[in-house]
Amino acid sequence: MHNANNNPWDSFWQNAGSLGTFGKEQSTLGLPTALVDIWLNALSHVFPTKNAADVAILDIGTGNGVLPFLCVSKLGASNVSAIDQANISPLEQGFNAEITNVLKQIDFYPNTPAESLPFEDAKFSLAISNYAIEYSNMSASLKEVQRVLKDSGQFICITHAALAEVTEHSSAGIDVYKAMFKATNAINTMRDVAAQKNSAEALKPLFQALMTVKNECQTPHHLDWFEQYIQPIAHTCMLLKNGQYEQGAMLNHIAQIGNDAANGCERSKQQVAAARTEEELAMLIKESGLKLLGIDPVTADDKLQGYLVRAEKV
Ligand SMILES: C[S@@+](CC[C@H](N)C(=O)[O-])C[C@H]1O[C@@H](n2cnc3c(N)ncnc32)[C@H](O)[C@@H]1O
Repeated sequence: MHNANNNPWDSFWQNAGSLGTFGKEQSTLGLPTALVDIWLNALSHVFPTKNAADVAILDIGTGNGVLPFLCVSKLGASNVSAIDQANISPLEQGFNAEITNVLKQIDFYPNTPAESLPFEDAKFSLAISNYAIEYSNMSASLKEVQRVLKDSGQFICITHAALAEVTEHSSAGIDVYKAMFKATNAINTMRDVAAQKNSAEALKPLFQALMTVKNECQTPHHLDWFEQYIQPIAHTCMLLKNGQYEQGAMLNHIAQIGNDAANGCERSKQQVAAARTEEELAMLIKESGLKLLGIDPVTADDKLQGYLVRAEKV
């Protein structure tokens, strides 16, 4: 078993290559079109009465800044602050000039927990969060949202939902991680071969063990995770078998596979823990002092993907 970094999101955002986490395989934006449309629609209800440039916006758990990017590039917002507990540095991620020029207009606050916001009272007209505030201690962070919003300021977030497809997918990821990395000891086996403490023959039982894990993967979600975890291992075993590697670089590479898998599993655990029911979200909003305006299911392909929560400071 490998230890995840203290904050598994630090390395995630340094290597993501996208502004957001969702659909990062599909585009640099890292937010599927369906979610972009839901956000633009939700925000259009806030902006029609105001010029977006005048609206002070706070994004909570921003990652590489996908929501602020939309606010600036699509809505003309020019007063956007964005916090994240992780050590984010969106401007240093080598995004193209068009994206970077937009990101330069956003005030990013790395290493900043939502539970303790570094802003004065009543600074913002709008607080937003895309699949992020629910990772924090929501009792504390929603009170902070309430504090930093102006009167009549709005809070809009999309959160993970209990029973949502993405939550099921992450639960499967945790199962497969445990089965693969506890049962097969894949990382240690590869490391011992690379360090020549063991011969390449040791890779054969490793592969047999991995195939046993594959047979236990009973759902498409489990198989999806198996593929994600197996690909770098299978590729590395091939290099080890052929002896085509430089030892130091190979040992680092194997350690990296272990770290990436451990961090991925830790993020999945946090995501499953962050998923809440509609009732729980309603209760948390009420306790924060905000007025709940609505909780709507977010769906795609008829499957629940989260909740869109809207609230107001009264
Ligand atoms: C699933 S990602 C979403 C990122 C981004 N909003 C997006 O849509 O891609 C969750 C984010 O919440 C951040 N986060 C977790 N706990 C937090 C906390 N207590 N305060 C602030 N940010 C937090 C993580 O670092 C991560 O960047």
